[in-house]
Amino acid sequence: MTAAELDGLTAVVTGGASGIGLATATLLAERGARVAVLDLDPSAVPEPLLGFTADVSDDASVSGAVEAAAEALGGIDILVNNAGIGAIGTVADNPDEQWLRVLDVNLVGVVRTTRAALPHLRRSTRASVVNLGSIVVTTGLPQRALYAASKGAVHSLTLSMAADHVREGIRVNCVSPGTVDTPWVGRLLDAADDPAAERAALNARQPHGRLVTPEEVAAAIAYLVSPAAGSTTGMTLQVDGGMANL
Ligand code: NAI
Repeated sequence: MTAAELDGLTAVVTGGASGIGLATATLLAERGARVAVLDLDPSAVPEPLLGFTADVSDDASVSGAVEAAAEALGGIDILVNNAGIGAIGTVADNPDEQWLRVLDVNLVGVVRTTRAALPHLRRSTRASVVNLGSIVVTTGLPQRALYAASKGAVHSLTLSMAADHVREGIRVNCVSPGTVDTPWVGRLLDAADDPAAERAALNARQPHGRLVTPEEVAAAIAYLVSPAAGSTTGMTLQVDGGMANL
């Protein structure tokens, strides 16, 4: 992909102030797109990224931020639905309130943001959406029942969105990462009894022997939103170091 591949395109990345979202927003900007980040706290987002405060679990907040971003960018060609939160536990552990909260952010957050962005995407001639799934959907991992269910719904939603909007010229794809070395995973490691041993265990769980980098996930997303992927929709691209193939 050339540096100018995304020249003239505009992008919105939710959860773009950290981890995979920040790496994605940065790469899209490097490739020529003008990029707005929607996040609970966009205050530390570096230039040239534009930061907008938004909570994807609040419809008024999301729709207001999407409109503000569209106005600042002059439209929206690319939407990356990346904002998400985790949950640890089996079905015995997580109370209903936590189920509803995680689904509200990870699943309905994708719906709200896409709904707000759709009028702008429909006006674009190179519109595409990428949703953040997870390899946990296809592998199953212990202690991730709620998180896996929320991301499984995002994978299914991606297929429906792709079918619904392909004739409007909007492509919808999904990336499915393994364990990615982001602040999220850093927080989990910090909370472990032995963070170094826990990191070694996470590295070993990846068949390629190390955590996935945020930049590797960003590169997959940048491909999916690029003109080179113009006939690809309803696709899940694994960036998982071989986890899904075990
Ligand atoms: P992170 O915690 O480093 O960054 C997430 C960002 O989302 C933060 O800036 C946070 O402020 C924002 N955010 C959280 N709730 C929000 C809300 N309600 N409204 C707006 N923004 C909100 O997380 P990371 O690791 O970069 O994950 C990003 C996405 O990738 C998530 O959807 C996650 O489920 C997914 N993912 C992460 C993996 C990993 O191993 N880190 C593996 C597979 C998927």
